[in-house]
Amino acid sequence: MEICDRYGRTIVDIRVSITQHCNLNCIYCHHEGYHERSNSVKRAEMTAEEIQRLVSVSRRVGIKRVKITGGEPLLRHDVFEIISKLSKLKGINEVSLVTNGVLLDQDTCDRLKYEGLKRINISLDTLDSQTYFDVTRKNMLTKVLDGITHAQNSGLNPIKINTVLLKGINDTRIREFIEFAKKTGVILQLIELMTFDENNDTFFNRYHVDPSPIEEVLEGIAKHIEVRQMQQRKRYHLNDGTVIEIVRPMHNSAFCANCKRLRVTSDGHLKPCLMREDNLIDIITPIRRNVSDEEIYQLLLQAIALREPFFKE
Ligand code: 5AD
Repeated sequence: MEICDRYGRTIVDIRVSITQHCNLNCIYCHHEGYHERSNSVKRAEMTAEEIQRLVSVSRRVGIKRVKITGGEPLLRHDVFEIISKLSKLKGINEVSLVTNGVLLDQDTCDRLKYEGLKRINISLDTLDSQTYFDVTRKNMLTKVLDGITHAQNSGLNPIKINTVLLKGINDTRIREFIEFAKKTGVILQLIELMTFDENNDTFFNRYHVDPSPIEEVLEGIAKHIEVRQMQQRKRYHLNDGTVIEIVRPMHNSAFCANCKRLRVTSDGHLKPCLMREDNLIDIITPIRRNVSDEEIYQLLLQAIALREPFFKE
């Protein structure tokens, strides 16, 4: 059944963080809007069975797609089991994953595909190895580039590259990214830097890039511009077949008005909005008490009732 929130938005996607751990330490990371409060949180990850149970019941509120995220989801030893379980759920049309790409060797990609993963998003903010180190504090660029090739070999297409726009780091090198997308056939997704506290975030104020000028250039060179259902994201199709998407979350009421996403933290809390940490609903405690599907469903409805556009008109 399709259920709308108070703002008429259906809920189609669930974004499940399966771990807070990461093997990179990116300077801009928003940690999926969830900042662990203690080390005990790190240990309290949902099990594969618990994730399966939650996603299974979430079909009753209209969920059709699952995105697995982290931290770095490939650090979980049972990530294949999680994907296998979720992709077997009837009515879940797509299980996809977002990763930094460091651990994408060929065997891993083959296995992800085999277990039912449909698509993959790979974070890549620079094509320069020194800059890669500056952004992530690790020397892993070659691994990520190889990872993209491996993912393509396994047929995890179309592959999306997530590039967070950062002033002075990659904003003057968009052309190189477009060339890279053309050469490799990946979809380039340029993401506006986000913050949860604009007024007090010196990092944000230093590195935030207004995507408008880039959009103008793309409008000039695109053969065709598509506005996607998903959060009204614009997708630019160039003559040579290259595809570029721009994600503009900040102060974008259209983005929020079209948000059909519910989030789950790695320690099992429903999160109605990326931007807020003050309205989480503990779902793991009831699941561990082995409550009925009906009770889990009621908690999902509660989370949906709390949904509210962060940026309103
Ligand atoms: N602003 C915008 N995007 C971000 N991501 C992580 N932190 C931020 C931020 N502050 C994106 C990265 C990653 C995805 C999971 O979230 O591109 O690929």
